Amino acid sequence: MTAAWDILITRAEHSKLRDLNLENIPFGKYFTDHMLEVDFIDGEWKQPEIKPYQPLLLAPSMAALHYGQAIFEGIKAYNDQAGNPRIFRPLDNYHRFNQSAERMQMPAVPEEIFMEGMRQLIELDRQWVPSREDHSLYIRPFMFSTDEMIGVRPSEHYKFMIILSPSGPYYSMPMRIHVEEQYVRAAPGGVGYAKAAGNYGAAMYATAQARKHGYDQVLWMDASEHKYVQECGTMNVFFIIGNVAITPSLEQGTILNGVTRQSVITMLKDAGLTVEERPLSLEEILAAYDQGTLREVFGTGTAATISPIRELACRGRELHFDVDAWTVAPGIKKRLTEIREGKVPDVHGWMMPV
Ligand code: COI
Repeated sequence: MTAAWDILITRAEHSKLRDLNLENIPFGKYFTDHMLEVDFIDGEWKQPEIKPYQPLLLAPSMAALHYGQAIFEGIKAYNDQAGNPRIFRPLDNYHRFNQSAERMQMPAVPEEIFMEGMRQLIELDRQWVPSREDHSLYIRPFMFSTDEMIGVRPSEHYKFMIILSPSGPYYSMPMRIHVEEQYVRAAPGGVGYAKAAGNYGAAMYATAQARKHGYDQVLWMDASEHKYVQECGTMNVFFIIGNVAITPSLEQGTILNGVTRQSVITMLKDAGLTVEERPLSLEEILAAYDQGTLREVFGTGTAATISPIRELACRGRELHFDVDAWTVAPGIKKRLTEIREGKVPDVHGWMMPV
């Protein structure tokens, strides 16, 4: 880090940690003692500050609230066997963050601010990293426009922040999924590949409709034909058909280039499976189910890690899966957990020490 960006640290007077049981926490509800805050003003990033976690004072006219120039990332840190925190593939998230920024006409965040800010923040709040299996410190970097102006144009001022949330699992049970053939998440030429806040808001109506009928999430289909699978809720999705793992390909820019997705592809190949990244149609899925070759279906994401799907409801049919009999997804999940917790060698160099 250059001297210009030495981070100013103001410590919290008291830690909130003593009021919390890290062994039993939901996802994303509690936040650590500190946060990182940096402003972009007059074309440059100003002094990064780590300060006590606190509310922000924002103008009602602030541009992000009106036109949605807002992006974020999700990253996780785990304790290794010696109790030292390590972050899972943060550079990949850093690069994706700036791809989202570019698509939303926002400034790039310098690597030093993102990476060193995250590292120092976690160092300061290292007592907050849970050690229990399936638990982690969820890291949420985000940026939003802060111009006080309600004309529609890219903002000139932005705020980049990182907050930390000690978290338990996102989904604790295998999911029931509604195949969504009416509402869409992303179209070619749109912002589907970006981690733009509005993508998540825009998904809520369809998800709520599915929930009313007892489903956990929706399986998004392509926008023009409703024929090809895109993502599952906030996750990438994998189908194991025979000995081949198939996941939708990224070339149309409608699917998030998931870090967990990439890691799962690598681990599936390590395990000897063939992985195909390509368009996957509902017809092919239904035919494989009818032939008995559709073995496993699961979502992948930072928050959710690897989440089995026990039911897919589509076109008046219910496809049921015997999740307890699966071998691939549980094996990959176990392996990923072992790498993250330092129980097996990190052969791919995924873990960054704090
Ligand atoms: C993640 O997997 O980190 C996500 O972005 C999903 C969600 C919590 C928004």
